[in-house]
Amino acid sequence: MTKPAKVFIKTYGCQMNVYDSERMSDALAPAGFEETDDMAAADLVVLNTCHIREKAAEKVYSELGRVRTVKEARERDGKKTLVAVAGCVAQAEGAEIVRRAPVVDLVVGPQSYHRLGDLLDSARAGAKPVETEFFAEEKFKGLPAGRESRLRARGVTAFLTVQEGCDKFCTFCVVPYTRGAELSRSVDEIVAEAERLADAGVREVTLLGQNVNAFHGAGPDGKPWGLGRLLYRLADIPGLDRLRYTTSHPRDMDEELIAAHRDLPALMPYLHLPVQSGSDRILKAMNRRHKAADYLRLVERIKEVRPDIALSGDFIVGFPGETDADFDDTMRLIETVGYAQAFSFKYSPRPGTPAADLETQVDEAVKAERLARLQALLTEQQKAFNAGCQGRTIDVLLERPGRKPGQLAGRSPWLQPVQIDAPAELIGEIVAARVDAIGSNSLFASLVEPRASVSGIPHAAPLPAESVA
Ligand code: 5AD
Ligand code: SF4
Repeated sequence: MTKPAKVFIKTYGCQMNVYDSERMSDALAPAGFEETDDMAAADLVVLNTCHIREKAAEKVYSELGRVRTVKEARERDGKKTLVAVAGCVAQAEGAEIVRRAPVVDLVVGPQSYHRLGDLLDSARAGAKPVETEFFAEEKFKGLPAGRESRLRARGVTAFLTVQEGCDKFCTFCVVPYTRGAELSRSVDEIVAEAERLADAGVREVTLLGQNVNAFHGAGPDGKPWGLGRLLYRLADIPGLDRLRYTTSHPRDMDEELIAAHRDLPALMPYLHLPVQSGSDRILKAMNRRHKAADYLRLVERIKEVRPDIALSGDFIVGFPGETDADFDDTMRLIETVGYAQAFSFKYSPRPGTPAADLETQVDEAVKAERLARLQALLTEQQKAFNAGCQGRTIDVLLERPGRKPGQLAGRSPWLQPVQIDAPAELIGEIVAARVDAIGSNSLFASLVEPRASVSGIPHAAPLPAESVA
């Protein structure tokens, strides 16, 4: 029997890349590839790259320097290594990558992973294929389903990409250029993948899309279904006790999706809803297509139907032209909303995006100072939110061994990491646990019931509004 070839995949950036890396691994399995986490043991090295912010391409080139050292060492031992660059830097830089880094054997953009097998053949033959076409629908159709054993090994939570690309064209963002136009998978295809995941023991699925709530996949009735409708359908799949989705645009939160938060116990009370800025002037310059007040009204409506919802967001400080007054508007919006968790960034000009050419770029020192103030406020809110869980009994999905022997790590409905003393056989169960202590990032809890709680029925009473804020 020939020894299986090994593939090492390094993933940068967002969860969609995590999902894509898994699917690449699935696509390579029939060709005899097994994954390894040791680059030096790999016959194929894949860098699955991200282009969203600062110096992304530079990071890839410096990592390729390290890859070259490994490849040369293996060559001295008579072993061949193929090097592939995938993801959004591959899409943005294309053939430039092969020119600047001759160590690279093939370049493949995010819409072309189904072609990986062919590209590898041509790379082995000495060509240096660069594939950055947008194949749209073919990408998902052409990827083989993960084998059951591979799925099982990945654990009790899984990502499932339902939508890709974005038509919003926020003026700071590369996504519409690297991932292309919005494309939704069909409901049947998604349901089939979700059922396969459930059969393999997955209890929680996070639906992914660059703009996931713009989902409009063809339903079995031939009509386009929105994300809300899709969630109602997925909630019927036995075993899938937890559903999440990310990332959403405020303009695409429709009535059905809000109703799903009201009606579906499986839909976890957590919503990542980026606003980017609290200033109408800046929102307009960003082409966000909503005002701060629209966002606040939306948040109110969601809190009405799901009072315990944990809100998360993305913020950019120092967008071109942002004044102190604009920044203060963002701080005020954060104070009004009360976030459980958030991501925040200094504006980073991305070549090819409209905002990169504006002459009103903000000084780095000003950006840094604003970011520090904004993050201090968000950290304070996160701590307050976590503190609201102290002493409560909450549901925890036990996902994996914890930090210490005898501990397991899991997640609360609000996506907080939870450490809990529990036996390993409870991995994959949703248990009731009492929160004993609050760490800087995690909750520490103890089992209330030794056995799993009733699937999908939240144990926790909704958090009072003041602890959410
Ligand atoms: N500069 C800073 N942050 C950005 N993001 C996207 N593009 C940029 C940029 N050019 C942030 C946004 C987005 C998140 C994924 O990354 O906040 O929601
Ligand atoms: Fe980028 Fe999101 Fe705006 Fe689309 S909606 S352009 S992905 S920030």
